[in-house]
Order: sequence, then C-alpha cells, then structure tokens
Amino acid sequence: MIKTGAPMSSKPIIVALDYDNADDALSIAAQLDPQICRVKVGKELHTAAGPTVVEDLMARGFDVFLDLKFHDIPNTVASACKVAASQGVWMVNVHAGGGKKMLDAARNAIDSFSGKKPLLIGVTVLTSLSQPELTEIGLAPNLPAAVLRYAELTKDARLDGVVCSALEATWLRDHFGKNFKLVTPGIRLAEDAKGDQARVVTPVDAIKMGSDYLVIGRSITKAKDPIATLHKINDDLKTMEASA
Ligand code: C5P
Repeated sequence: MIKTGAPMSSKPIIVALDYDNADDALSIAAQLDPQICRVKVGKELHTAAGPTVVEDLMARGFDVFLDLKFHDIPNTVASACKVAASQGVWMVNVHAGGGKKMLDAARNAIDSFSGKKPLLIGVTVLTSLSQPELTEIGLAPNLPAAVLRYAELTKDARLDGVVCSALEATWLRDHFGKNFKLVTPGIRLAEDAKGDQARVVTPVDAIKMGSDYLVIGRSITKAKDPIATLHKINDDLKTMEASA
C-alpha cells in the first residue's frame, strides 16, 4: 500500500547511464523504452561524451536527468543551470551544501529561462555515506539532521525537491508535503549486492516509502538481461500500484 497519498509517477524509473563512452550508453538506450523510463547522465558519461550524448538521448525520446550535482559559487551554478535548461534537460541538480545563496541563484536562473523549465533538485546526503562517515566529515550531529537541514534549505529556496535515500522519504514526505519531489538512488533488487551504496532499498519499498523517482544504475545496466530487468521492475511497481 502507498502510504504517502501522492499518486505514483507514470514513469518513476530513471536509469543511470554510468558509462565512460557514448557508444555503450546509446547502445543500452537503444534497447530501453522511453515510454517506461527516463535516463540519467552523470559525471562519468558527461565527462566522457559531453552535451552531445544528452542531445542524442533526447532525440531518441528520453527525458534526461542531468546529474552533475553543481556545487560552486552562486554565479557559476546559476550559469550552469541556465545552460542545462537551454539544452532541454528534464531535471538538473545542485548540491544543497552549496548554501542558500547558491540555491537561490540556481532557482532564479531556471525561473528566468523562457523555455520549458527543468525540475531543479537539491542533493542532500549522498546515499553512499553512512553515519560514521558523516561524523568523520563533521558536518552535522547525525544523518537525519543533516538530510533535514539540506532539505529545508532546498525547500526554502523553492527548488522542486531533493535527492535523498528512500530510507528518508517517508518522513521527508510528511515534512514537506506531496508536491516536493523525492528522487532516490541507492536502489537495489533483493538479490543484488550493495556495491558502494550504504543505504539501499528495493524499488517497490522505495515507492511505498514515498519516493517519486527511483534512480537505478547497476541493478539494471549490469543485469544479465537489462531490458527484462527494467520491465520486471516496472511491472512490479504497476502491480503494487494496482493493489494499493
Ligand atoms: O549503480 P547505482 O544504482 O548505485 O547508481 C546510482 C546512481 O545514482 C549513480 O549514477 C550515482 O552517481 C547516483 N547518485 C547516488 N546518490 C546520490 C545522488 C546520485 O547514488 N545522492
């Protein structure tokens, strides 16, 4: 049963195309169906292949999440957001740790863009970080407090939502309401290894906990049959929605 009261997005799966070259990314994208998933271009693929691969993916009908986690001085982040918007990406993110002025600058840059505005999302605490590492960084007394603080900053700056762990989705949803988008990486199928992610949740549980969008990389791209895995996850989500 979905606890959040918010209907599930018609396309909640975002496949992370973490490849070091455009050919591999485009060859898996050619097998994926833009009707049932969106795609994410992150630092690895963007560093290797630049905006051309973003354009190529959009030309194949995909909504693209540009996951470059901008974190710089406000002017630089605002300019980067403007460029991302003009490229036509569906979602772009900035790191909430850049502070309120940086988040405001990003918001203003997107607001002043005259075309279709991408969703603007703030990154809270990376799902690869656990409490001991957070203590080591010395940023906040505990993990939920750090996530909450980043999410509050993001909301105050009128961004559209946050990247967080699904483990935090239920209380973030309660706190910030149903229109605040919760984008959750750290998704693993029951049979998968965690890899470098510390805080992991299955796709069905992540949606039940209140996620709007699931960022799924290796569970799909490294599966024996990536396409069958994508369809299986999508079918499981639809079945859960129908029975909710
Ligand atoms: O392979 P896996 O499913 O762990 O990939 C997760 C993807 O989500 C990676 O591309 C990673 O950069 C991204 N991501 C994340 N944690 C965040 C933000 C983005 O894992 N907080």
